[in-house]
Amino acid sequence: MITAYQASCQARVDAALEPLFIAPTKELERLYAAMRYSVMNGGKRVRPLLAYAACEALGVPAEQANGAACAVELIHAYSLVHDDLPAMDDDDLRRGQPTTHKAFDEACAILAGDGLQSLAFSALLDPRLSPQADSTRLAMVQALAKAAGPAGMVGGQAIDLGSVGLKLDQQALEFMHRHKTGALIEASVRLGALASARAEQAQLDALQTYAQAIGLAFQVQDDILDVESDTATLGKRQGADIARDKPTYPALLGLEAAKAYAIELRDQALIALQGFGENAEPLRALARYIVERRH
Ligand code: IPE
Ligand code: IPE
Ligand code: MG
Ligand code: MG
Ligand code: MG
Repeated sequence: MITAYQASCQARVDAALEPLFIAPTKELERLYAAMRYSVMNGGKRVRPLLAYAACEALGVPAEQANGAACAVELIHAYSLVHDDLPAMDDDDLRRGQPTTHKAFDEACAILAGDGLQSLAFSALLDPRLSPQADSTRLAMVQALAKAAGPAGMVGGQAIDLGSVGLKLDQQALEFMHRHKTGALIEASVRLGALASARAEQAQLDALQTYAQAIGLAFQVQDDILDVESDTATLGKRQGADIARDKPTYPALLGLEAAKAYAIELRDQALIALQGFGENAEPLRALARYIVERRH
């Protein structure tokens, strides 16, 4: 269930994202259309929501985290465009529509993904979206670059693709999930906290513990939904992991144990927020949402 809070955050980030897709010249219209198609298509916006909620948990209005929110969604959208390519997961449905390489073509999808990655860093540094001091913006850029790159999401994707058909143990599976999905979720919380420009170290540490737990829980739930949801609800092909023999939590632990693990991670995340007051309610609600969501 999407709450009023989630809907207002989604509207805020969508309004900030929309102007990024105006093609500067006629020749670039197709590329910009492919980028827009890949972003403005009904994603849940969980990462922007986390950035906004982390900023608010520190007592600062969510608007301060607009740059952070746009940046993490743009990186996420790029990762999905490339994840769906024939050379990777080879999927034809995403967010209820043909994947970008199906709606356009493969080369265009590769370039759209590349373009979205660069746009993420431009948005993060745009003073209209990130009004923070340069030192804060530099810290945000550094955190995002690390999370998106080979030590984060890209590294996790490499492990994922190298593991097809293999039986990973729980430690290896956790390492893969923490990289391919956890890293960007952690960065979303961290960027939101940094954007507040008033996070103390102890608060950053607590938020990191929270984010690590929900980052892993998010991918565990994604794996669970691949087994027990349906294509119409998911907006992407149900059973794709099973069909491709992907290493997943339900495959390793069984469905019930995977569900219990997701709940355990949610509880760890909630405990990490104990030192925060009412301002952290949106973060708490998101931890619950991540393991209760049906798509
Ligand atoms: C799907 O992410 C890919 C994973 C990292 C598991 P989301 O479930 O957040 O996808 P959208 O953005 O709502 O489409
Ligand atoms: C995707 O994991 C993770 C990234 C895109 C970084 P999946 O391959 O499980 O995501 P879906 O299920 O296609 O959304
Ligand atoms: Mg994948
Ligand atoms: Mg995939
Ligand atoms: Mg998946």
